[in-house]
Amino acid sequence: MTKATETNKVNKETEANKVNKATEATEKTGSLLTQYSSGVYEGRAKGKFQIYTKNAAPGISVYGEKTLITDDGTEYRSWDPKRSKLGALYQKRLPVPLRSDSRVLYLGAASGTTVSYVSDILADGGNGVVYAVEFSEKPMRSLVMLAEKRSNIIPIFSDASRPELYFPIVEPVDVIFQDVAQANQAEIACRNAAYFLKDGGYLILSLKARSIDVAKNPKKIFGEEIKILEKSDDVSFKVLRTVDLAPFHADHMGVIAVKNSKKQ
Ligand SMILES: C[S@@+](CC[C@H](N)C(=O)[O-])C[C@H]1O[C@@H](n2cnc3c(N)ncnc32)[C@H](O)[C@@H]1O
Repeated sequence: MTKATETNKVNKETEANKVNKATEATEKTGSLLTQYSSGVYEGRAKGKFQIYTKNAAPGISVYGEKTLITDDGTEYRSWDPKRSKLGALYQKRLPVPLRSDSRVLYLGAASGTTVSYVSDILADGGNGVVYAVEFSEKPMRSLVMLAEKRSNIIPIFSDASRPELYFPIVEPVDVIFQDVAQANQAEIACRNAAYFLKDGGYLILSLKARSIDVAKNPKKIFGEEIKILEKSDDVSFKVLRTVDLAPFHADHMGVIAVKNSKKQ
């Protein structure tokens, strides 16, 4: 258990100001943080359950998120499940198979909001690496800037539906996390898993119903995507958990699956 307190980070603050502010806040509002998964902590903020990671780049906020500084000077970043499908999975208490020494392939990195939390988890007592793939130029620029401050992020400007393009860069991984919001989400996941996911490795997938078909019933869409995961020609997955990501993300389903073995 860790005694902690909440304060807003303002990037422009001087180091001295930050320390002073944190100390003041500690005296006013002590709270408790407990670790509940590798690299992920829980506490209460304004009476509500809140998840945190240890900031791998102390003093630097990624999107203006709130931070806590504990008595021993460790900085934690609050993780908003509304801004992150992975955060929603943790908030919903799913057994997310990420460890500090994991090799992770992250598909659909955008500007790196969630990638930054994966980076925190990997840096918390381990030496994991996250390969972050994004194909849109604007968010890619922010992702590259994020990676300059965090050595365990390897940004890759490429199309996740063409894993052969980044095959020379990415090593075999323990976990694939995918959040690409494309029509063929399960197919993209299978293709990447065939290239990079170790046997026994995990797929964590966020499925967005509206990206697949705006008119169809989301439940039907999700059922069809799950079938693709289970019966793909490329890989064999066993789906371990599925969860509706509402209220944090409407019409999204989170999937955790394990790769059995290569079929051919
Ligand atoms: C919902 S956003 C991802 C948000 C991000 N995962 C986060 O939580 O911070 C989806 C991202 O996937 C990217 N994307 C969609 N299709 C892609 C593809 N085929 N290859 C690479 N990136 C893709 C989009 O450009 C967009 O930035």
